[in-house]
Amino acid sequence: MVRNENQAGNSTNSDRTPVVGGPLAYSADGRLEFDGIPVAQLARDYGTPLFVYSAGHIAERLAEFRAGVGGRKHLICYAVKANSNLSLLRLMNAAGVGADIVSGGELFRARKAGIPADRIVFAGVGKSAAEIDEALSADIHMFSVESEAELREISRIAAETKREARISIRVNPDVDAATHPYISTGLKENKFGVPHEEVLALYDLARELPGTEARGIGFHIGSQLLGLDGYRDAAARVRSLLVELRGRGFAIDHLDVGGGLGIQYDDEQPPGMAEYARTMFEAFPEADFPDLTLVFEPGRSIAGNAGVLLTRVLYGKGNAAKHFDIIDAAMNDLIRPALYSAYHQAWPERSERLSETREADLVGPICESGDFLVRGRRLPVLEQGDLVALASAGAYGFVMSSNYNSRPRAAEVLVEAGPDGGQASARVIRRRETYDDLIRGED
Ligand SMILES: Cc1ncc(COP(=O)(O)O)c(C=O)c1O
Repeated sequence: MVRNENQAGNSTNSDRTPVVGGPLAYSADGRLEFDGIPVAQLARDYGTPLFVYSAGHIAERLAEFRAGVGGRKHLICYAVKANSNLSLLRLMNAAGVGADIVSGGELFRARKAGIPADRIVFAGVGKSAAEIDEALSADIHMFSVESEAELREISRIAAETKREARISIRVNPDVDAATHPYISTGLKENKFGVPHEEVLALYDLARELPGTEARGIGFHIGSQLLGLDGYRDAAARVRSLLVELRGRGFAIDHLDVGGGLGIQYDDEQPPGMAEYARTMFEAFPEADFPDLTLVFEPGRSIAGNAGVLLTRVLYGKGNAAKHFDIIDAAMNDLIRPALYSAYHQAWPERSERLSETREADLVGPICESGDFLVRGRRLPVLEQGDLVALASAGAYGFVMSSNYNSRPRAAEVLVEAGPDGGQASARVIRRRETYDDLIRGED
């Protein structure tokens, strides 16, 4: 792994390639590029703050994943929550990928992008009656059920309207996924899933209730997982339930293993996509489960390193103790550092800046001390007007952005290779918001 300037005590030089498993690299003359396009050009053409995504990186991640599938039955349902831009969803659809949705809004987006209903699965602990109805009308592939009350509600709505809901019960396997507490979901104290010991009774109930057909079982244990042990433990627990259910005559032919595979933000070494896929299939060998379709719901591992947030230094300011670079991106654009103490590498547009570093924060213009994108790291000595790319911002970036402080949300741009892998080009896939957008719908 190439270390960057942000790690305390590391001297840096400009001739290495500062790639965080993503599309950023310095050109021979020391200018930062994104898939070969100078970021200075992107900033000039589209302004800052700006999210930039690489279609090529997304395609590579999907290809890596598929290399581990080995001909087994599977469905990739991209977790729309990670990055729900329509153009990204269209890329997924073109690649034969479905959607893991958690709201009626995500269903709307997935359908707008052309993703067929039979490739859509619906998770989430709080599906409203209206959302359940919409998903039934669309005839989605499967509902992932998270409680008895929800099962009864799905049954009620389906039966009243003479429809049938295919359901999968999400087991809370009570395994430690060893990740940030806010993104761990497979522990008893988390709100997600049905406790392991209550699962069989819920399937019995599903059999009695009208309008539901139990076809799957699943789990999702957390996000940004850097090892496969949690997956193996969860798979083992759910496998015994699956075997038991089949023994009781349930025709369970889908196993949803959720998402959660981690990515490299700093010096993490997550398992490869193919290894992850292989591991899950190994837990359910073909000899024992020939007809089982594994459903994968990757989000971050597809989109995370495909994107960066490009921002410009507005002002520098400091005192004897501390230096602040005030940038035009803020916590409303990328809340991950404030919310999870998340780490994003920060790369200056000019590699020459890497030769001198100092202890500094990158902070936004918002009136909160929590408004930082980088805190307490060694950063290059930046100048007013410099551009900086915050790496690994493709997932849980724009989707979590807000209009706090009445800041219009950033534009999003997609970079795609030309025909036959030729010169990449960029296009706007979400225009920058205007002041009028800020007050739309207000009286
Ligand atoms: C049910 C479910 N599936 C998939 C995901 C996607 O996770 P990730 O983006 O870590 O792959 C999540 C994220 O929280 C989730 O809750």
